[in-house]
Amino acid sequence: MKNFKYLQIRELFLKHLEKNGHTIIPSASLVPENNPSVLFVNCGMFPLIPYLLGEPHPGGVRLANSQRSLRTIDIDEVGDATHLTTFEMLGNWSINDYFKEEALRITLTFFIDELGFDINKISSSVFAGNEDAPKDEESIEIWKKLFKERGIEAKVGEKIRELGKEDNWWEPDGGGPCGPDSETFYEVDGKLVEIGNDVFMQYLKKDGQYLPLGKHNVDFGGGLDRLAMVCQGVSSVYETDIYLPILTKVREMSKSENIQSQRIIVDHIKAATWVIADGVVPGRSQREYILRRLIRRAIRHARKLGIEGLFTRIIGEIAIEQFKAVHEELEPKKNDILNILEEEEKKFNQTLEKGIREVEKLASELKAALKPGEEFTNENQETFKLYETYGFPLEMTLEELGSHNIPYSYETTAVRHEKAYEDHQEKSRTASKGLFKGGMADTSEMSTKYHTATHLLLSALHKVLGDHIYQKGSNITTERLRLDFPNETKLTDEELKQVENLVNEQIEKGLEVTFTEMPKEQALELVKYAAFGEKYGDIVKVYTIGTPDNPFSQEICGGPHVENTKVLGKFKIVKQENVSAGVKRIKAILE
Ligand code: SER
Repeated sequence: MKNFKYLQIRELFLKHLEKNGHTIIPSASLVPENNPSVLFVNCGMFPLIPYLLGEPHPGGVRLANSQRSLRTIDIDEVGDATHLTTFEMLGNWSINDYFKEEALRITLTFFIDELGFDINKISSSVFAGNEDAPKDEESIEIWKKLFKERGIEAKVGEKIRELGKEDNWWEPDGGGPCGPDSETFYEVDGKLVEIGNDVFMQYLKKDGQYLPLGKHNVDFGGGLDRLAMVCQGVSSVYETDIYLPILTKVREMSKSENIQSQRIIVDHIKAATWVIADGVVPGRSQREYILRRLIRRAIRHARKLGIEGLFTRIIGEIAIEQFKAVHEELEPKKNDILNILEEEEKKFNQTLEKGIREVEKLASELKAALKPGEEFTNENQETFKLYETYGFPLEMTLEELGSHNIPYSYETTAVRHEKAYEDHQEKSRTASKGLFKGGMADTSEMSTKYHTATHLLLSALHKVLGDHIYQKGSNITTERLRLDFPNETKLTDEELKQVENLVNEQIEKGLEVTFTEMPKEQALELVKYAAFGEKYGDIVKVYTIGTPDNPFSQEICGGPHVENTKVLGKFKIVKQENVSAGVKRIKAILE
């Protein structure tokens, strides 16, 4: 395998697709046009949805590009080896033109003939079938044939794996053209790295139903940053040629060796330059707030690393230099971008000192007020006041409180914080309205729903997997829930389905959600899976889902929750991950 540079891989991909009859189209802006269902373009196919649904594209029926994308769903994983908030997605599309065989051939020849990947280290996965769609037998046969042409007898269960919906089905957030997909993997140091995904779009998801699309589209996507990591034989995307100069500068400026914080700065400042280049400025409405959070989070990590003085301009400038060839708006807007970054940095620095003093004050008040074992639950929406006056993001207030040894309940705090934020938004009527799927204008309502869904999920896991299940960690945003729990092995597709069904059954039953207050000892006898080591107050709230004599779930929790499960909609597990040995993570959404 050749040690191709990032830009070379990009170029090779586009040339390869051109050779195969595709028109190369430019990347669309990160800010979606005419589609308010997401705040940022989060994958290559998103800007193409109208064409995948039937509108003619001026470039014809074979299209390819490298699309910049932004995903905040994994923002708290940024800092590990592979997660980025902004990345480039190599993509090619057939709009009712070629289908599975040609698509998989185009993919495989790119990896082997253009990038020089070793066929022996390539494997694939295909859709195993479920109640919505049958097993993708066709793709299995095609993979066998493609491997055979290169002298390899590929077996199902080995080189070709059949996996369920969680792994091998793709549909955009909010529904749309969708179908089974086939992923390609490369073995690196004994681990399988996903290097590409061909989605075969035969269905249209509308109002929860899968209807025939009446077309056979292909949507291929491959993460360029990850491919560069594989080609260059490095162990993180930040060590690839495109990120390394930015990381090197951050390292040079740092007084401590915290690699995670260094990577977060690289990722967030680079992402901020991209977002600003696409016309967003830091502010309070939702898209603007994401940008503000990126910049402020980078600043906080810079403080952690002991970086002195203004730094966003210095790092921003290197990021622009590195990425100007792929994002054509970066260079012409360079001065504006750097000025906006620095202005936000100065503003934040000014309030930071004052804000930290306020949090310290809050911490000492809480120290006096909290009973032994009691947690901070943001009863008076204190975190929002700090956000309002000093621009302190929630996480930052909590981190500060944590450093003063104040125990807090993340979920309850976050839900109350968002409620305060929403109430405020409601008053000032900003542009945020209508940005949520299905007309869901209220973000606090969404996080409350996710909070209740988390209880249902935990109980379902407990019932399916056994008594060792408890909540090891949880994190809720307005877009998803995330739950960590102890389990040795990953859940099988069957187990995931069972858990998902169990949760959906409780939603359909329309169970009441109620709470009672009781002494901690009594509560600990009642609930089945209180988090070990968790600190509880002397009097705690116990939330019950279902009738008290036969509850589906009972948990010690500060709330708030929905009143009845029927308002939750449809629960869907979208991702399962390995957090560490013995700890698994599930991300799920409500539709
Ligand atoms: N849309 C698919 C994905 O994001 C393929 O590009 O994986």
